[in-house]
Amino acid sequence: MSAIQPTENSPPFEIKEGLDGLSPQSIRMLYRRAPLHRPVSDPHSLWTMFENASLVVTVWKSGRLVGIARVLTDGVLYSYLCDLAIEPDVQGLGIGKRLMKYVQQRCAGTELVLRSSLSRFHKRSGLKPVNDAWAIT
Ligand SMILES: CC(C)(COP(=O)(O)OP(=O)(O)OC[C@H]1O[C@@H](n2cnc3c(N)ncnc32)[C@H](O)[C@@H]1OP(=O)(O)O)[C@@H](O)C(=O)NCCC(=O)NCCS
Repeated sequence: MSAIQPTENSPPFEIKEGLDGLSPQSIRMLYRRAPLHRPVSDPHSLWTMFENASLVVTVWKSGRLVGIARVLTDGVLYSYLCDLAIEPDVQGLGIGKRLMKYVQQRCAGTELVLRSSLSRFHKRSGLKPVNDAWAIT
């Protein structure tokens, strides 16, 4: 577990790995509020997405879930950041960037890719756009 200290007097944000403390309901609440569009109305599918992930990193403030990153990785060549979401009331405090950094460190040595239209946030997190990517949507 590691900690982010936003200001001197506020409680730290704790970073944890794994599914402990998570439930389809808590994930759904966070994704709806962030918002991050995923199949949150189907708890079984949502939980399967998490059980099958290679790496789940969560951020907590005073026991409350405030951030999630979900990754698929082969551990050698490629990693895919599937989800990144932060609660609206703590957005803009640097937590998303810190979470990206944590994921980058955990997936070090692999090429980390993601799909997103948030170019400013991803540029600020050190990512570069690629031209040679193709998808079946
Ligand atoms: C995108 C998101 C994860 C960013 O988390 P955050 O904790 O608010 O971001 P940070 O405070 O670490 O911001 C890091 C930088 O990105 C910028 N940024 C943050 N959110 C942004 C957004 N929505 N659009 C553009 N830039 C953004 C910040 O201004 C900051 O720039 P700076 O370093 O120049 O100050 C969060 O806003 C979120 O959950 N959004 C909804 C879900 C989503 O779109 N997820 C990403 C797609 S997978």
